[in-house]
Amino acid sequence: MKITAHTRMVGIIGYPVRHSLSPVMHNAEFARLGLNYVYVAWEVHPGEIPEAVKGLRVLGAVGFNVTVPHKQAVVAELDELSEEAKAIGAVNTVRFENGRAVGYNTDASGWREDIERTISLAGERICIIGAGGAARAVAVGACQAGAAALVICNRRFETAETLGELLRHYFPSVEVTWSGLCGDHCRELVRSCHIIVNATPVGMTGKGGCPIPSDWLLPGQFVYDTIYTPAETQFLAEAKARGCRVQNGLGMLVRQGAKAFELWTGVKPDPDAMEREVRAFL
Ligand SMILES: NC(=O)c1ccc[n+]([C@@H]2O[C@H](COP(=O)([O-])OP(=O)(O)OC[C@H]3O[C@@H](n4cnc5c(N)ncnc54)[C@H](OP(=O)(O)O)[C@@H]3O)[C@@H](O)[C@H]2O)c1
Repeated sequence: MKITAHTRMVGIIGYPVRHSLSPVMHNAEFARLGLNYVYVAWEVHPGEIPEAVKGLRVLGAVGFNVTVPHKQAVVAELDELSEEAKAIGAVNTVRFENGRAVGYNTDASGWREDIERTISLAGERICIIGAGGAARAVAVGACQAGAAALVICNRRFETAETLGELLRHYFPSVEVTWSGLCGDHCRELVRSCHIIVNATPVGMTGKGGCPIPSDWLLPGQFVYDTIYTPAETQFLAEAKARGCRVQNGLGMLVRQGAKAFELWTGVKPDPDAMEREVRAFL
Protein backbone atom coordinates (compact mmCIF):
# COMPACT_ATOMS: atom_id res chain seq x y z
CA MET A 1 0.00 0.00 0.00
CA LYS A 2 1.41 3.38 -1.05
CA ILE A 3 1.58 5.95 1.76
CA THR A 4 -0.30 9.04 0.58
CA ALA A 5 -1.76 12.20 2.09
CA HIS A 6 -4.84 10.12 2.90
CA THR A 7 -3.02 7.39 4.83
CA ARG A 8 -4.52 6.90 8.26
CA MET A 9 -2.20 6.40 11.21
CA VAL A 10 -2.23 3.93 14.10
CA GLY A 11 0.60 2.52 16.18
CA ILE A 12 1.85 1.43 19.56
CA ILE A 13 3.36 3.29 22.53
CA GLY A 14 5.64 1.48 24.97
CA TYR A 15 9.03 1.71 26.64
CA PRO A 16 10.90 -0.10 25.24
CA VAL A 17 8.91 -0.87 22.10
CA ARG A 18 11.39 -2.00 19.41
CA HIS A 19 10.70 -5.70 20.11
CA SER A 20 7.00 -5.30 19.20
CA LEU A 21 5.57 -7.64 16.57
CA SER A 22 2.41 -5.55 16.16
CA PRO A 23 3.66 -3.37 13.25
CA VAL A 24 4.42 -6.50 11.22
CA MET A 25 1.03 -8.16 11.67
CA HIS A 26 -1.09 -5.00 11.31
CA ASN A 27 0.71 -3.60 8.26
CA ALA A 28 0.55 -6.98 6.50
CA GLU A 29 -3.19 -7.18 7.15
CA PHE A 30 -3.79 -3.56 6.02
CA ALA A 31 -1.98 -4.43 2.77
CA ARG A 32 -3.83 -7.73 2.31
CA LEU A 33 -7.20 -5.99 2.75
CA GLY A 34 -6.22 -2.91 0.70
CA LEU A 35 -6.73 -0.50 3.62
CA ASN A 36 -4.84 2.79 3.48
CA TYR A 37 -3.48 2.64 7.04
CA VAL A 38 0.00 2.51 8.51
CA TYR A 39 1.03 1.12 11.93
CA VAL A 40 4.25 2.35 13.57
CA ALA A 41 6.00 1.92 16.94
CA TRP A 42 6.57 4.97 19.15
CA GLU A 43 8.95 4.70 22.09
CA VAL A 44 7.38 6.95 24.73
CA HIS A 45 9.19 7.68 27.99
CA PRO A 46 7.00 7.01 31.07
CA GLY A 47 7.11 10.72 31.99
CA GLU A 48 5.69 11.79 28.62
CA ILE A 49 2.43 9.88 28.25
CA PRO A 50 0.20 13.01 28.46
CA GLU A 51 2.20 14.68 25.65
CA ALA A 52 2.07 11.51 23.54
CA VAL A 53 -1.72 11.12 23.83
CA LYS A 54 -2.28 14.82 23.12
CA GLY A 55 0.15 14.71 20.18
CA LEU A 56 -1.52 11.69 18.60
CA ARG A 57 -4.92 13.28 18.99
CA VAL A 58 -3.95 16.57 17.31
CA LEU A 59 -2.07 14.74 14.54
CA GLY A 60 -5.25 12.87 13.71
CA ALA A 61 -4.20 9.31 14.59
CA VAL A 62 -7.13 6.89 14.46
CA GLY A 63 -5.94 5.29 17.70
CA PHE A 64 -3.06 3.35 19.18
CA ASN A 65 -2.04 0.30 21.16
CA VAL A 66 -0.45 0.59 24.59
CA THR A 67 2.13 -1.82 25.94
CA VAL A 68 4.36 -2.25 29.00
CA PRO A 69 4.81 -0.16 31.10
CA HIS A 70 2.02 2.27 30.10
CA LYS A 71 -1.14 0.15 30.24
CA GLN A 72 -2.27 1.50 33.61
CA ALA A 73 -0.70 4.98 33.48
CA VAL A 74 -2.42 5.84 30.17
CA VAL A 75 -5.86 5.57 31.82
CA ALA A 76 -5.45 9.02 33.43
CA GLU A 77 -5.11 10.60 29.98
CA LEU A 78 -8.30 9.14 28.49
CA ASP A 79 -11.83 10.58 28.36
CA GLU A 80 -13.72 7.30 28.66
CA LEU A 81 -13.15 3.58 29.31
CA SER A 82 -15.00 0.51 28.08
CA GLU A 83 -16.59 -1.63 30.81
CA GLU A 84 -13.93 -4.28 30.21
CA ALA A 85 -11.07 -1.80 30.58
CA LYS A 86 -12.64 -0.57 33.82
CA ALA A 87 -12.83 -4.08 35.25
CA ILE A 88 -9.27 -4.89 34.18
CA GLY A 89 -7.94 -1.49 35.29
CA ALA A 90 -5.70 -1.29 32.23
CA VAL A 91 -5.93 -0.22 28.59
CA ASN A 92 -4.12 -1.75 25.62
CA THR A 93 -6.09 -0.07 22.81
CA VAL A 94 -7.21 3.55 22.37
CA ARG A 95 -9.53 4.89 19.70
CA PHE A 96 -10.15 8.59 19.12
CA GLU A 97 -13.92 9.02 18.79
CA ASN A 98 -14.98 12.56 17.79
CA GLY A 99 -11.87 13.91 19.48
CA ARG A 100 -12.41 11.88 22.66
CA ALA A 101 -9.82 9.28 23.64
CA VAL A 102 -11.64 6.05 24.51
CA GLY A 103 -9.73 3.20 26.18
CA TYR A 104 -10.38 -0.49 25.54
CA ASN A 105 -8.75 -3.70 26.66
CA THR A 106 -8.58 -6.40 24.00
CA ASP A 107 -6.18 -8.68 25.93
CA ALA A 108 -9.06 -10.39 27.76
CA SER A 109 -10.99 -11.36 24.62
CA GLY A 110 -7.71 -12.06 22.78
CA TRP A 111 -6.65 -14.58 25.40
CA ARG A 112 -10.09 -16.11 25.68
CA GLU A 113 -10.52 -16.55 21.93
CA ASP A 114 -7.07 -18.08 21.68
CA ILE A 115 -7.29 -20.61 24.51
CA GLU A 116 -10.86 -21.55 23.59
CA ARG A 117 -9.61 -22.76 20.21
CA THR A 118 -8.21 -25.66 22.26
CA ILE A 119 -10.15 -25.94 25.53
CA SER A 120 -13.46 -24.57 26.78
CA LEU A 121 -13.25 -22.41 29.92
CA ALA A 122 -16.86 -22.86 31.06
CA GLY A 123 -17.10 -24.54 34.46
CA GLU A 124 -13.30 -24.85 34.82
CA ARG A 125 -11.05 -24.15 37.81
CA ILE A 126 -8.28 -21.91 36.50
CA CYS A 127 -5.03 -20.95 38.23
CA ILE A 128 -3.41 -17.69 37.14
CA ILE A 129 0.22 -17.10 38.08
CA GLY A 130 0.80 -13.35 38.32
CA ALA A 131 -1.45 -10.42 39.17
CA GLY A 132 -0.24 -7.70 36.80
CA GLY A 133 -1.88 -6.37 33.64
CA ALA A 134 -1.83 -9.65 31.70
CA ALA A 135 -3.13 -11.62 34.69
CA ARG A 136 -5.99 -9.16 35.17
CA ALA A 137 -6.98 -9.51 31.53
CA VAL A 138 -6.81 -13.32 31.69
CA ALA A 139 -8.86 -13.32 34.88
CA VAL A 140 -11.60 -11.15 33.38
CA GLY A 141 -11.58 -13.24 30.19
CA ALA A 142 -11.93 -16.41 32.25
CA CYS A 143 -14.82 -15.01 34.30
CA GLN A 144 -16.60 -13.78 31.16
CA ALA A 145 -16.20 -17.26 29.67
CA GLY A 146 -18.00 -18.84 32.63
CA ALA A 147 -15.09 -20.26 34.65
CA ALA A 148 -16.29 -21.81 37.91
CA ALA A 149 -13.30 -20.83 40.02
CA LEU A 150 -10.15 -18.74 39.81
CA VAL A 151 -7.01 -19.09 41.89
CA ILE A 152 -4.60 -16.14 41.76
CA CYS A 153 -1.01 -16.95 42.80
CA ASN A 154 1.38 -14.02 42.88
CA ARG A 155 4.84 -13.26 44.25
CA ARG A 156 3.50 -10.23 46.16
CA PHE A 157 0.55 -11.46 48.20
CA GLU A 158 -1.06 -7.99 48.47
CA THR A 159 -1.31 -7.67 44.68
CA ALA A 160 -2.97 -11.09 44.45
CA GLU A 161 -5.39 -9.98 47.15
CA THR A 162 -6.22 -6.70 45.39
CA LEU A 163 -6.98 -8.58 42.15
CA GLY A 164 -8.93 -11.29 43.98
CA GLU A 165 -11.15 -8.72 45.72
CA LEU A 166 -11.75 -6.86 42.46
CA LEU A 167 -12.82 -10.09 40.76
CA ARG A 168 -15.18 -10.96 43.61
CA HIS A 169 -16.74 -7.52 43.17
CA TYR A 170 -17.24 -7.76 39.39
CA PHE A 171 -17.98 -11.50 39.17
CA PRO A 172 -19.71 -12.59 42.42
CA SER A 173 -20.76 -15.96 40.98
CA VAL A 174 -17.13 -17.05 40.42
CA GLU A 175 -15.27 -18.64 43.36
CA VAL A 176 -12.06 -16.59 43.74
CA THR A 177 -9.11 -17.43 46.03
CA TRP A 178 -5.53 -16.16 46.13
CA SER A 179 -2.15 -17.01 47.53
CA GLY A 180 1.53 -16.09 47.55
CA LEU A 181 3.69 -17.98 45.09
CA CYS A 182 5.42 -20.52 47.32
CA GLY A 183 4.72 -23.20 49.88
CA ASP A 184 2.50 -26.26 50.20
CA HIS A 185 -0.70 -24.20 50.19
CA CYS A 186 0.09 -22.69 46.79
CA ARG A 187 1.16 -26.08 45.41
CA GLU A 188 -2.15 -27.65 46.46
CA LEU A 189 -4.10 -24.74 44.94
CA VAL A 190 -2.23 -25.20 41.65
CA ARG A 191 -2.97 -28.92 41.76
CA SER A 192 -6.67 -28.25 42.36
CA CYS A 193 -6.97 -26.53 38.96
CA HIS A 194 -7.30 -28.03 35.51
CA ILE A 195 -5.96 -25.00 33.64
CA ILE A 196 -2.78 -23.16 34.70
CA VAL A 197 -1.83 -19.82 33.08
CA ASN A 198 1.55 -18.14 33.40
CA ALA A 199 0.96 -14.37 33.27
CA THR A 200 4.40 -13.34 34.58
CA PRO A 201 7.46 -12.49 32.44
CA VAL A 202 9.33 -15.47 33.95
CA GLY A 203 10.64 -17.54 31.03
CA MET A 204 10.90 -14.77 28.43
CA THR A 205 13.86 -14.90 26.06
CA GLY A 206 17.03 -14.16 27.98
CA LYS A 207 15.38 -14.67 31.36
CA GLY A 208 14.73 -18.45 31.58
CA GLY A 209 13.22 -20.18 34.61
CA CYS A 210 9.74 -21.35 35.60
CA PRO A 211 7.17 -19.26 37.48
CA ILE A 212 6.37 -22.26 39.74
CA PRO A 213 8.29 -25.51 40.26
CA SER A 214 7.23 -27.78 37.41
CA ASP A 215 7.00 -30.78 39.76
CA TRP A 216 3.84 -29.12 41.13
CA LEU A 217 2.13 -29.94 37.82
CA LEU A 218 0.01 -33.03 37.28
CA PRO A 219 -0.39 -35.05 34.07
CA GLY A 220 -3.50 -33.98 32.18
CA GLN A 221 -3.42 -30.34 33.31
CA PHE A 222 -3.60 -27.71 30.57
CA VAL A 223 -0.76 -25.17 30.81
CA TYR A 224 -0.97 -21.86 28.92
CA ASP A 225 1.99 -19.47 28.86
CA THR A 226 1.18 -15.87 27.83
CA ILE A 227 4.81 -15.57 26.67
CA TYR A 228 5.44 -16.15 22.95
CA THR A 229 9.22 -15.57 22.68
CA PRO A 230 10.63 -18.14 23.00
CA ALA A 231 7.85 -20.19 21.42
CA GLU A 232 8.50 -22.90 23.99
CA THR A 233 9.38 -21.54 27.42
CA GLN A 234 11.16 -23.71 29.98
CA PHE A 235 7.81 -23.92 31.79
CA LEU A 236 5.98 -25.27 28.72
CA ALA A 237 8.80 -27.72 27.94
CA GLU A 238 8.79 -29.10 31.50
CA ALA A 239 4.97 -29.18 31.62
CA LYS A 240 4.89 -31.17 28.37
CA ALA A 241 7.45 -33.60 29.75
CA ARG A 242 5.13 -34.15 32.74
CA GLY A 243 2.18 -35.07 30.55
CA CYS A 244 0.42 -31.67 30.45
CA ARG A 245 -1.13 -30.18 27.32
CA VAL A 246 0.47 -26.82 26.52
CA GLN A 247 -0.12 -23.62 24.50
CA ASN A 248 1.92 -20.42 24.15
CA GLY A 249 0.74 -16.80 23.94
CA LEU A 250 1.27 -16.08 20.24
CA GLY A 251 -2.39 -16.60 19.46
CA MET A 252 -3.32 -14.18 22.26
CA LEU A 253 -1.04 -11.52 20.76
CA VAL A 254 -2.65 -12.00 17.36
CA ARG A 255 -6.22 -12.01 18.63
CA GLN A 256 -5.87 -8.95 20.87
CA GLY A 257 -4.40 -7.24 17.79
CA ALA A 258 -7.23 -8.41 15.54
CA LYS A 259 -9.77 -6.88 17.92
CA ALA A 260 -7.89 -3.55 17.98
CA PHE A 261 -7.70 -3.65 14.15
CA GLU A 262 -11.47 -3.99 13.98
CA LEU A 263 -12.02 -1.18 16.49
CA TRP A 264 -9.92 1.21 14.37
CA THR A 265 -10.98 0.24 10.86
CA GLY A 266 -14.44 -1.27 11.30
CA VAL A 267 -13.18 -4.20 9.21
CA LYS A 268 -12.82 -7.73 10.58
CA PRO A 269 -9.29 -8.99 9.89
CA ASP A 270 -8.28 -12.62 9.47
CA PRO A 271 -6.36 -13.64 12.63
CA ASP A 272 -4.94 -16.70 10.88
CA ALA A 273 -3.39 -14.51 8.18
CA MET A 274 -2.00 -12.20 10.89
CA GLU A 275 -0.56 -15.18 12.76
CA ARG A 276 1.14 -16.49 9.62
CA GLU A 277 2.82 -13.08 9.13
CA VAL A 278 4.11 -13.03 12.71
CA ARG A 279 5.39 -16.62 12.50
CA ALA A 280 7.19 -15.85 9.24
CA PHE A 281 8.82 -12.81 10.85
CA LEU A 282 9.98 -14.57 14.04
N1 LIG B 1 0.52 -12.91 24.57
C1 LIG B 1 0.16 -11.66 24.74
O1 LIG B 1 -0.54 -11.06 23.90
C2 LIG B 1 0.54 -10.95 26.00
C3 LIG B 1 -0.10 -9.74 26.34
C4 LIG B 1 0.30 -9.11 27.52
C5 LIG B 1 1.30 -9.66 28.30
N2 LIG B 1 1.87 -10.85 27.93
C6 LIG B 1 2.90 -11.49 28.78
O2 LIG B 1 2.59 -11.30 30.13
C7 LIG B 1 3.76 -10.96 30.86
C8 LIG B 1 3.37 -10.07 32.02
O3 LIG B 1 2.96 -8.81 31.51
P1 LIG B 1 2.18 -7.77 32.43
O4 LIG B 1 1.75 -6.67 31.54
O5 LIG B 1 1.16 -8.44 33.25
O6 LIG B 1 3.36 -7.25 33.40
P2 LIG B 1 3.19 -6.58 34.82
O7 LIG B 1 1.93 -5.80 34.89
O8 LIG B 1 4.49 -5.91 35.09
O9 LIG B 1 3.03 -7.82 35.85
C9 LIG B 1 4.05 -8.73 36.03
C10 LIG B 1 3.58 -9.84 36.96
O10 LIG B 1 4.59 -10.84 36.99
C11 LIG B 1 5.05 -11.02 38.32
N3 LIG B 1 6.50 -11.25 38.28
C12 LIG B 1 7.43 -10.47 37.67
N4 LIG B 1 8.65 -11.01 37.83
C13 LIG B 1 8.49 -12.14 38.56
C14 LIG B 1 9.39 -13.12 39.05
N5 LIG B 1 10.70 -13.05 38.80
N6 LIG B 1 8.88 -14.15 39.75
C15 LIG B 1 7.55 -14.25 39.98
N7 LIG B 1 6.65 -13.33 39.55
C16 LIG B 1 7.12 -12.29 38.84
C17 LIG B 1 4.70 -9.76 39.05
O11 LIG B 1 4.58 -10.08 40.42
P3 LIG B 1 4.70 -8.96 41.58
O12 LIG B 1 3.34 -8.36 41.72
O13 LIG B 1 5.11 -9.75 42.77
O14 LIG B 1 5.75 -7.98 41.13
C18 LIG B 1 3.37 -9.40 38.40
O15 LIG B 1 2.33 -10.15 38.94
C19 LIG B 1 4.67 -10.28 29.83
O16 LIG B 1 6.00 -10.53 30.14
C20 LIG B 1 4.26 -10.90 28.51
O17 LIG B 1 5.15 -11.95 28.19
C21 LIG B 1 1.52 -11.48 26.80
